Amino acid sequence: EEKTSFPGVADSDYAKEEERRMSAEAFEVVRQQLGRSYLPLINGEYVSTSEVIDSLNPSNFSEVIGKVGLISVEQAEQAMQAAKAAFPGWRKTPAKQRADILRKAADLMEQRRAELAAWIVLEVGKPVKEADAEVSEAIDFCLYYADEMERLDQGVIYDVAGETNRYIYQPRGIAVVISPWNFPLAIACGMTVAALVTGNCTLLKPAETSSVITAKFTEILVEAGIPQGVFQYVPGKGSQVGAYLVNHVDTHVIAFTGSQEVGCRIYAEAATLKPGQKHMKRVIAEMGGKNAIIIDESADLDQGVVGVVQSAFGYSGQKCSAASRVIVVQPIYDAFVQRLVEATKSLNIGETELPSTQVGPVIDAHARDRICEYIEKGKAEAQVALELPAPEQGYFVGPVIFSEVPPDGIIAQQEIFGPVLAVIRVKDFAEALAVANGTNYALTGGLYSRTPSHIQQAQTDFEVGNLYINRNITGAIVARQPFGGFKLSGVGSKAGGPDYLLQFLEPRTVTENI
Ligand code: NAD
Ligand code: ALA
Repeated sequence: EEKTSFPGVADSDYAKEEERRMSAEAFEVVRQQLGRSYLPLINGEYVSTSEVIDSLNPSNFSEVIGKVGLISVEQAEQAMQAAKAAFPGWRKTPAKQRADILRKAADLMEQRRAELAAWIVLEVGKPVKEADAEVSEAIDFCLYYADEMERLDQGVIYDVAGETNRYIYQPRGIAVVISPWNFPLAIACGMTVAALVTGNCTLLKPAETSSVITAKFTEILVEAGIPQGVFQYVPGKGSQVGAYLVNHVDTHVIAFTGSQEVGCRIYAEAATLKPGQKHMKRVIAEMGGKNAIIIDESADLDQGVVGVVQSAFGYSGQKCSAASRVIVVQPIYDAFVQRLVEATKSLNIGETELPSTQVGPVIDAHARDRICEYIEKGKAEAQVALELPAPEQGYFVGPVIFSEVPPDGIIAQQEIFGPVLAVIRVKDFAEALAVANGTNYALTGGLYSRTPSHIQQAQTDFEVGNLYINRNITGAIVARQPFGGFKLSGVGSKAGGPDYLLQFLEPRTVTENI
């Protein structure tokens, strides 16, 4: 067993008046900058585009956060050519120098912490406490991957008499990073800096709804000294520019985080050789979840209720890690549901700028309508235990708890990505585990129990990439809970873990007879 001592940075402490004041000031500063234009960065230049979209505040969609230029396919091609031109220089840049750019970026993000959190709050509707934790995660990714690259750069020596053997890593080439909107800074940053520090020239295509935050991240990388062409910010339509870059003959690595539908499609497209292509593409695809928490009869219900509420309704359930099923054994089912409903009623819903708020809006009208359709489907197959009203303004959906949900029901099987929780009744722990494993996903899972044999069995048989025992199931920390799933939740090694960078590298063995 290897022990790591990566410390991680601290989140803001909003119990301190000074930190609350800094946050309030950051919102004022950011509000003065709303509605500005953000342009793609291609070959070191901010370039204009023929298509521009408005990025809106989901809490108040009359507020334009920024105007974002979306690139065309021709501009995507220019970016690819610039990346190819920059690659020979970047691959030869010493690992230490690349790592130091990440450390500088981490410093800059720490200096701009309150401001970046404010942009996240305003552009994607994440409550400020969670937005601040996201800034911490982005900083941790930079610092951890910088250290990791320096570790890997030492290679491995297998010398014997008369022969030296060096096991070394080289970059793969051009990386295309395609990021989701729900962790607009941390996930975009994590995938991007992993690709960069390993020596790949990298194109970042963010989700359309979170392009302003990625523009801020771009400013940071530029200020940190990333060379021209090595990193390019290419906002654009997923189905058009994203697909073009995935299919490009010169793409070596695709690092994607998003829905299962798009991830599976990228995986298939990347597997098809294009005319002139001389390599196989490496795909890292982190996809969705249908995550369950099991509550057995020995659980501390106070702890369990708090953990389920946080996991299910934090950021309105819009986390791949969120709990969307609770599986409760018969003897405590009714008591648990009653307490869960009471606890959910006391959630603070609304004002995302306040540190006490736990539930904000969902990302856009499409998401709101999709979630509402699932709520209707849930009403046809289960009982409504709670349906909370939502604020009128903005794309809000009030938390909903369904009880007596059949394990194979629609709302128990499909990722809803909203504040909708399905509570499932089972007779015992064995059935709970079978139900928990009975979806196509394997991302996060939780167990509340004080029974050692159940805890032991969950460790071996609960099919999830991240298992949490007697705590909430969201909020993985870099180099503490390396994060990612399997089955249809994704392919690839865990983000923030010791294998992650290897995916961006090509190992080589050099033997010399002496
Ligand atoms: P999405 O799949 O709709 O979009 C993700 C990205 O893919 C966006 O940048 C989009 O523009 C791009 N895209 C869309 N079509 C494309 C195509 N044909 N080719 C190339 N790129 C294309 O996902 P989303 O709505 O942004 O994010 C929510 C989803 O992400 C949820 O399913 C959630 O579970 C998942 N997610 C997973 C993780 C994880 O670590 N496993 C983390 C966060 C989010
Ligand atoms: N890494 C994020 C979490 O653990 C998705 O919640």
